[in-house]
Amino acid sequence: MEPIKLSIDKAFGFVPEEAVAAYAPQVESANRTLEDGTGRGNDFLGWLHLPTSISEAHLADIEQTARTLREQCQAVVVIGIGGSYLGAKAVNEALANSFDWLVAERRDPIVLYAGQNIGEDYRYELQELLKGKKFGIICISKSGTTTEPALAFRLLKDQLEAQQGKEAARQLIVCITDKARGALRTLATQEGYKTFVIEDNIGGRFSVLSPVGLLPIAVAGHDVRRLVQGAADMERATGTDVPFADNPAARYAAVRNALYHSGKKIEILVNFHPKLHYVSEWWKQLYGESEGKDGKGIFPASVDFTTDLHSMGQWIQDGERTIFETVISVREPNHTKVFPHDDANLDGLNFLAGKRVDEVNKMAELGTMLAHVDGGVPNLKVELPRLDEYYLGQLIYFFERACGMSGYVLGVNPFDQPGVEAYKKNMFALLDKPGYEEASRAIKARL
Ligand code: PA5
Repeated sequence: MEPIKLSIDKAFGFVPEEAVAAYAPQVESANRTLEDGTGRGNDFLGWLHLPTSISEAHLADIEQTARTLREQCQAVVVIGIGGSYLGAKAVNEALANSFDWLVAERRDPIVLYAGQNIGEDYRYELQELLKGKKFGIICISKSGTTTEPALAFRLLKDQLEAQQGKEAARQLIVCITDKARGALRTLATQEGYKTFVIEDNIGGRFSVLSPVGLLPIAVAGHDVRRLVQGAADMERATGTDVPFADNPAARYAAVRNALYHSGKKIEILVNFHPKLHYVSEWWKQLYGESEGKDGKGIFPASVDFTTDLHSMGQWIQDGERTIFETVISVREPNHTKVFPHDDANLDGLNFLAGKRVDEVNKMAELGTMLAHVDGGVPNLKVELPRLDEYYLGQLIYFFERACGMSGYVLGVNPFDQPGVEAYKKNMFALLDKPGYEEASRAIKARL
């Protein structure tokens, strides 16, 4: 199968090709550091060879568990936040019918999400929707102690037990967590839930190809083998044996570092395909948590075009010139729709009659790229032949591998996230969590 294609030539008007090529030794060295496991955060490299090492038995277990939930449930609630949520959400949204919710007489269970916020109305409305429905729960938390998913699980487990009885509920709950540690592991062991393990050496934002992503994706009815296959092919295409010029992850890592050091501090991930919205959300977490530290890092932002051309388009065309764009372009849509001829032509659109909707979208994409380059915005493009499991697998691994290299070139540990603890400490202090008495007194004195 052909690989996804990275084009960086529309950045060369801003950073010379030689300046990007000058990063080759550093990027290749970063790739070897990943491979040898000699860099910072090297205890979190379990994702690196995950695609090529997933066993048949593991995949079969995931598929069987998904089948059971699909057969037994009208809805499955996936509980998780951050890296324990975004990968599955990204793939499921990218592959789902856009009007999935409204499809009558559905055979597949609805996949719903909880644990990614603490919105009371969201929880209330979700639980109202689940009233009287046979639903299952996949609770995902590596630490097993994250507040948002733990709160969601407590509420939904209660509801499920009330609706189905404790014994039946037990068969409808699957937990994905650490093999030994954490409250979720303790609970799962006590209650006898089916579990999958998140390995110690896989961090949340690199976990989509582990059960964290694969089980919810399989539950939604998608082909996880094709996803893993795509990722495995990209793992081979980005290895240390692949020269810089042929290695898309290495080139992406190089060009974004070159742009960053030339003053382009914000990278905007662009799509012209609304189903990719959550791929951008996943990507923002991947790059934001991996690189935004030690006072450094490109700020990862995202827009959905053409929708956001009518809002953020102004800023991108004309605002401060500290941005560059990376466009995810899908070459061929999965469906065909042609504009009809209209005799009255009151809307003046007959010049488009007989053309596919995608042709208009592609001209919008091309026109936008040229306008933004003319406006001072370097443009990178990642082209997928189609939006399917295989190419999403390639895309996921491409971004992961490039992220590891890019972080090392930037000089940070791409695999930790010390900055996310600050809000938790304050929240627990404000909520009078036992053990936070001192912090509680201190924070309340500031109010
Ligand atoms: O990438 C990360 O490490 C985080 O986003 C975590 O995935 C997130 O905080 C959820 O953590 P946990 O899976 O421990 O509940």
